[in-house]
Amino acid sequence: MAQTGDEKQVAMTWNLPDLAATRALAGRLAAVLRPGDAVLLEGPLGAGKSEFARALLRAAAGDPTLEVPSPTFTLVQSYDLPQGTAHHFDLYRLSGPAGLMELGWDEAREGIVLVEWPERLGALAPADALTIRLAPGMTEEARQVTITGWDAKRAGLLA
Ligand SMILES: Nc1ncnc2c1ncn2[C@@H]1O[C@H](COP(=O)(O)OP(=O)(O)OP(=O)(O)O)[C@@H](O)[C@H]1O
Ligand SMILES: [Mg+2]
Repeated sequence: MAQTGDEKQVAMTWNLPDLAATRALAGRLAAVLRPGDAVLLEGPLGAGKSEFARALLRAAAGDPTLEVPSPTFTLVQSYDLPQGTAHHFDLYRLSGPAGLMELGWDEAREGIVLVEWPERLGALAPADALTIRLAPGMTEEARQVTITGWDAKRAGLLA
């Protein structure tokens, strides 16, 4: 694992050999999430952003069968979790910042937000977010993950 940055901001990159590794990482993140946290999920089509969000929400709910549809068309799906409310956004089809307000972005930020295609947030991207970038790996099931944001102590829990 490569680690760069000072004590406050870290960027870590490592290999996820298969889907189970992606799910395990999502489970570790679920254990440390709290209301007000923003998790930005970056990566190209099919990178595994929805897969990651699904595993995270199931782990947070303590329910491996929780229905977690991709919010491709609804743009947001909300979940009542023991940690508080979580909102899973997919902004690929977002028309603009006004559309984000119509989706209830400000209220959603009081809970936990998971955001696919966070590039669409523009200036509304939370400065204190944790960013998880998934990229294709060496095999069909492998992914390279890069995590930035949060302080070293909290982000280090995920490596
Ligand atoms: N290591 C892995 N991590 C994540 N997904 C994987 C992995 N290996 C294989 N996959 C598969 O890759 C696909 C990822 O699809 P997913 O819908 O999560 O992508 P996405 O990034 O949300 O795409 P979109 O931008 O269209 O929303 C799934 O079919 C998943 O099973
Ligand atoms: Mg998706």
